[in-house]
Amino acid sequence: MNVTEKETQPYADQRPGTSGLRKKVTVFQQANYLENFVQSIFDSLEGLQGQTLVVGGDGRYFNRHAVQVILRMAAANGLGRVLVGRGGLLSTPAASCVIRKHGAFGGIILSASHNPAGPDGDFGIKYNIGNGGPAPEKITETIYQNSREIRRYRIAEHADLDLDTVGEHHIGTMVVEVIDPVSDYADLMQQLFDFDRIHALINSGLFQMRFDAMHAITGPYAVEILENRLGVTPDALMNAVPKEDFGGGHPDPNLVYAKELVDVLFAADAPDFGAASDGDGDRNMILGRKFFVTPSDSLAVLAANAHLTPGYRLGLAGIARSMPTSQAADRVAERLGIELYETPTGWKFFGNLLDAGKATLCGEESFGTGSDHVREKDGLWAVLFWLNLLAVRKESVQKIVTSHWRSYGRNYYSRHDYENVDGERAGELMKRLRDQCGTLAGTRYGNYEVAFNDDFAYTDPVDGSISERQGIRVAFSDGSRIVFRLSGTGTEGATLRIYLERYEADPEQQLQDPQHALADLINIAEQIARIRHYTGRETPTVIT
Ligand code: G1P
Ligand code: ZN
Repeated sequence: MNVTEKETQPYADQRPGTSGLRKKVTVFQQANYLENFVQSIFDSLEGLQGQTLVVGGDGRYFNRHAVQVILRMAAANGLGRVLVGRGGLLSTPAASCVIRKHGAFGGIILSASHNPAGPDGDFGIKYNIGNGGPAPEKITETIYQNSREIRRYRIAEHADLDLDTVGEHHIGTMVVEVIDPVSDYADLMQQLFDFDRIHALINSGLFQMRFDAMHAITGPYAVEILENRLGVTPDALMNAVPKEDFGGGHPDPNLVYAKELVDVLFAADAPDFGAASDGDGDRNMILGRKFFVTPSDSLAVLAANAHLTPGYRLGLAGIARSMPTSQAADRVAERLGIELYETPTGWKFFGNLLDAGKATLCGEESFGTGSDHVREKDGLWAVLFWLNLLAVRKESVQKIVTSHWRSYGRNYYSRHDYENVDGERAGELMKRLRDQCGTLAGTRYGNYEVAFNDDFAYTDPVDGSISERQGIRVAFSDGSRIVFRLSGTGTEGATLRIYLERYEADPEQQLQDPQHALADLINIAEQIARIRHYTGRETPTVIT
């Protein structure tokens, strides 16, 4: 094997964000941009020699090229074996599953999640460690430091490999094993959920569903699991053929971007159940007939009903949610007598809790739900969990959620995003909120009285690491909250996220439109943060 050490110059902007390095494809196409980052990953890992690495991505534009480069660099850096999904594909949760199942040293996942793809779209790359989860900040910071000093990278000279058929190749002594990207994952799902009962429900003639893969990675997973193993008819799978540009769409499963599915589920003859996943398969949206399940509620409902599934019948060790996620799951944890962990935004913060056996289920308001079965959030897992509940409870999605509210109370919830606003102005807005921290307690806004306002800081209960400045919380004496933070995943300007939450115990008052139920808090958010002034916008770009 011919290995060359190529000279290079550092780029200043390779600091991984909430979920790896995400940039425009055109940024990744700059000379050595990808190579610099990949070498910086390898340079940050000790004991790589002879180890196994998992590589795959969501299939977006640039995925194929990146996989070939990574394989040649892995060989040059002394890896022993690389497992790569056929076609260079692996959904994010499937990559996590494969890393764990095969005891790999780690994995490189190529994805910019739900961000649009194509030559003018986004690309992303992240490193996952041996537990299958995103690398902790200690590693991502080392990668960043390496990327600032890099002067050379190692790459083997080799022709592109055929990745479109399952089989083995060699680059020097390194083995490249092209694996079926779906089967390990599908087998794991079959262990966790009652496929016989779900099959019976789906084939009962009384149940209709749709799954929208949004032309992204979950297409082949849905075909194998939902169609081949569970008997869903092909017409129930929408946009199941992955495309490099995701069909020109924005594969983010929410009410705005998954409009095609939403229209079907809110039509006169709507099916009973609808779901969608995102670009790399880790997010999910759950819909019933004319009914939307807020992700925070989904986490709470899954937790309250987990004992009905084979994989979780023995109960949950604990529940973890990101700080801005609603407190609906807290009430379930309280009733179950288990611990509830509140972490900063980003799945990586769940890793230690899952590894230590402290939490079983985790969730984020951003359409992410998952458990200790892998170390990523998992879109199809959530869909199958819901199907399992529907098959056991034999009630509609709406019935299951509204009876949950009656039993636990409802946490009205909404997130308002102001996308692509001026970065400097957004920074000023946040600075002002930060400067106000600790000063608002006791202040009244209409019926609401501020209990405290702070900048959320988290001490990891497992390794004691501290993460500061994780979002401004304004908490009110009745448990309502407004949270402000800037996105760490955007690639253009800044995105301001405002999270609104209000608790309603009275069943008579639980069926309002959330925007209406939260109207007072929306006004208070404007008063406190002067959003219009700083963003120059009258309304949010996306409301979920
Ligand atoms: C967003 C979500 C966050 C999620 C992340 C990766 O991050 O808010 O919950 O973990 O995407 O999918 P943000 O852009 O807010 O930093
Ligand atoms: Zn994603």
